[in-house]
Parts: sequence; structure tokens; C-alpha cells
Amino acid sequence: MTTRTLARIIPSVAASDGAGVKLRRSLGNGQALRHDPFLMLDEFFSDDPDDYLRGFPSHPHRGFETVTYMLDGHMRHEDHLGHRGDLGPGDVQWMTAGRGIIHSEMPQQTEGRMRGFQLWINLPAKEKMKPAAYRDIPARAIPTVVLATGGEVRVIAGTLVQGEHATSGPIQGLSTEPLYLDVHLPAGTVFMAPVTAGHQAFLYLYDGEARVGDDRQALPHRAAGLLADGDTVRVEAGAPGARFLLLAGKPLGEPIVQHGPFVMNTREEIEQALADYRNGTLAVSNLED
Ligand code: CO
Repeated sequence: MTTRTLARIIPSVAASDGAGVKLRRSLGNGQALRHDPFLMLDEFFSDDPDDYLRGFPSHPHRGFETVTYMLDGHMRHEDHLGHRGDLGPGDVQWMTAGRGIIHSEMPQQTEGRMRGFQLWINLPAKEKMKPAAYRDIPARAIPTVVLATGGEVRVIAGTLVQGEHATSGPIQGLSTEPLYLDVHLPAGTVFMAPVTAGHQAFLYLYDGEARVGDDRQALPHRAAGLLADGDTVRVEAGAPGARFLLLAGKPLGEPIVQHGPFVMNTREEIEQALADYRNGTLAVSNLED
């Protein structure tokens, strides 16, 4: 057993996206700050409606997947073909942009707390132009594992193994084999879980305090903590407890050329995406049923 150590920290920085939504961006805050296959992680967290009310009006995507996970608040998703989805606390939307989608993500509240995450996961070259698809996953469809050592884990994607028990989340079978866990630990407890060796993994501590690996390195608050290779992740909660995301996936090892919401392999493919968006063929009738 090789326990993964904390290899690199990508602090989150204040950023603004959409029509002026204030958020914290860690992964993706710069072209070199990715963790293949993960392109970007944003956390939006505010009690002030001015920070989120303007939302994310109509915008395109091509070439990757976006995963929205709500902790608090209510967001409505709508695309250019009239598909709609409502996301509330604990809900997840897993969107495969593939060839193209033009959509909006708008808050459905005018007061109170809005908190959640948006993760971007790359697609391999052979899947970048596949039809767009959605999975709207209600909170009740996401299994919660109660840990023998205390605490609980929501399994959004991939499989969590604890002793004899394996718990699989609703998202399975993707090329990048993503593991997406939301872990809540009481003070002083230790979480250990197998994570496939060779997959890239990182942690994002959004509440409390945590130490990582056998050498118990402190994980900074609201930063992406990239993990060295190994087959096991070990996290120990500090005095206030800890709430964090654990993400892992199979690296693609392909060239990445990104232009805003388009992530392709070559400059030519980006030019094509821009041309398709301009002439209205980016996302025409390509949704999977
Ligand atoms: Co979007």
C-alpha cells in the first residue's frame, strides 16, 4: 500500500464568470494549473445575492464535461433546445458538452446562501465531437456511505471501497473513470480509501481542517491539493472536523488547446468551434435522446 502525499497546492483566487458571479477558482486559474483530466474547479459561495444573481446567461461549450454540484441554493439550467433542469441542495448535473451545447445557468433565488461547485473534466479526442448529453441527478439518487470511523461520504461518481463494501455512485463507465466523493469527517477522525494507482487525484477542503498522507501535511482551506501517485488516500480531520471533495481520474495525456468554453486538441479545432458558434451550427440537434 502506498499512501498518496500532498504534492502541490493550487490556491483558489477570487474570480468572476458568467454575467458577474463571484467565485473562487483553483484548478484552471491559468493554463498550467490543470490536473489531467481535470481542467477547472470553481467554488461559488456567498450569502450576498449581488454576488450570484446575474448568473450565467446563454453561453456555449464544446469538447469536455461540466459537473455542477449544489450544496445550498437553487439554480436552473436551460439549453438552446428547450431542455430544462432544476438543481437544488445536494443535486448534481453531469453535462457532456461533446460537440456543443449552448445553455444558461441561472439562480432561482433572490436571497440566502448559494454554494456549490463546477468542475470541468476533459474528453478524449475521439469523444470531443460526440452528441451532447445530460444527467440530472437528484440528491436522493446519490448514495451516502456512513464510515465505520465516523463521518459520511456522498458517492457522486465512481466507486468507494471501505473494507468488504463497495458503493457505486450514479456516474459510471466514462473514459476518464472519474471518482467524485464529498467527504464529511468529525473532529479527529481518519478517512482512508483506495484510489486507482496512476490516476490523478486531488482534494478540495471547503470547511474545517485536514491533514493529508502518512506525513500529515496540512491541506490549505479552499485550495486544490494535488496528490502524488499511490493507491490509497488518507485524510485526517482537525479539531473543527473537515468537509472536502476527493476527485480522481484517468489522465488523457493529449494536447490541450483551450479558448474560453471550448477545449480541443488543436488550434484548427478551436477555429472550427468558433466558426461553428458564429454560424449557428455548434450545437444544432446533436443531443442524445
Ligand atoms: Co456552462
